[in-house]
Amino acid sequence: MRTRVGIVGAGPAGLVLSLLLAERGIDSVVVEARGREEIERTMRAGVLEQGTVELLTDLGVGARALAEGARHEGVELRFDRRGHRIDFTGLTGRAVWLYPQHEVLKDLIAARLAAGADIRFGARDVALHDVTSDEPVISFTGADGAAVRLRCDVVAGCDGSAGVSRRTVPDGERTDYFRAYPFGWFGILAEAPRSSPELVYAHSERGFALISTRTPDVQRMYFQCAPDERPQDWSDDRIWAELNARVAGEDGFTLNEGRIVDKSVIAMRSYVCEPMRHGRLFLAGDAAHVVPPTGAKGLNLAVADVVVLARALERFFATGDTGSLEAYGPAAARRVWRAQHFSWWMTSMLHRDPDGSPFDLKRQLGELELVAGSTASATHLAEAYTGWPVER
Ligand code: DHB
Repeated sequence: MRTRVGIVGAGPAGLVLSLLLAERGIDSVVVEARGREEIERTMRAGVLEQGTVELLTDLGVGARALAEGARHEGVELRFDRRGHRIDFTGLTGRAVWLYPQHEVLKDLIAARLAAGADIRFGARDVALHDVTSDEPVISFTGADGAAVRLRCDVVAGCDGSAGVSRRTVPDGERTDYFRAYPFGWFGILAEAPRSSPELVYAHSERGFALISTRTPDVQRMYFQCAPDERPQDWSDDRIWAELNARVAGEDGFTLNEGRIVDKSVIAMRSYVCEPMRHGRLFLAGDAAHVVPPTGAKGLNLAVADVVVLARALERFFATGDTGSLEAYGPAAARRVWRAQHFSWWMTSMLHRDPDGSPFDLKRQLGELELVAGSTASATHLAEAYTGWPVER
């Protein structure tokens, strides 16, 4: 079997890439280890930058995000027992959309399959070969049990942090930039009405909390916890007490409670692999980098990567110019490092460092006062949160 671009992974990076390539008349095959149902069920973050929504709309897959997602024109930073609104639209003219990642994936998969795209779900034993030659190969066992060798001109590694793509770049040829955080996020889904019209990012002496939403009847909330916290150790009552203690303030703000239908603990880390290319293998999305969740940059960054990659591949297939392939990694990495900074900054400004001192807590409050109280600082946050422009 042969295709021009073999794409490993049917997450946001892989699926948006296949769509961008199809738009340019470049054929691709997507190879994915998980089943379609699992992908469409897995809960991830839910914030789309304005540019991501615009891109999805341009590609014909944004209708449901626009109709069923919610446009948010700001967020609340809560600290020192008070709320402080950051007015994204007033400061930058831009906004974000609350629309869950697995819904984006449903829309992308439906659109690709309707267009006759070749997506191999449930592929086992996925391996990459000859990636430094001009005919790299993806081998796998299909869902029907048949062994497949997919010969390609290039391979896009979009299979996340645990996939085969990143591991295919030899140790000696890549630098891993890594940072672990001494805390995690305890995430819940609750059947309850919204507690706030906009997302609340709360700093407190007990640690960070985030009040987000999924639908008018289902809310998503998180609170900072120990990295090895066990969800089963937390009763619903204990969770509500902890969340309420972290958002409590002089305005009497309390959460609308309800049945908790999901509890999980999320690790926090920052990671970048450079270069993002090895021969004809190109890493994109979580395969190349991971951000801590504060600020919800993960999906948006994956989409920005493949916009740059699609442009480089278009030039390469049109002209044979390998210079455009070499330019992909450095061009994508510039945005990656800006997003790394933003995600690290939001995380460090809002979380309690378990080894921190009273000085650190007061310094964070000083920083939050500065961000909320200065138009220049608030604009910096608003620009980063709503997303820097992506050139199409
Ligand atoms: C959500 C996740 C985030 O990391 C964030 O910063 C905002 C919202 C969410 O899952 O809704």
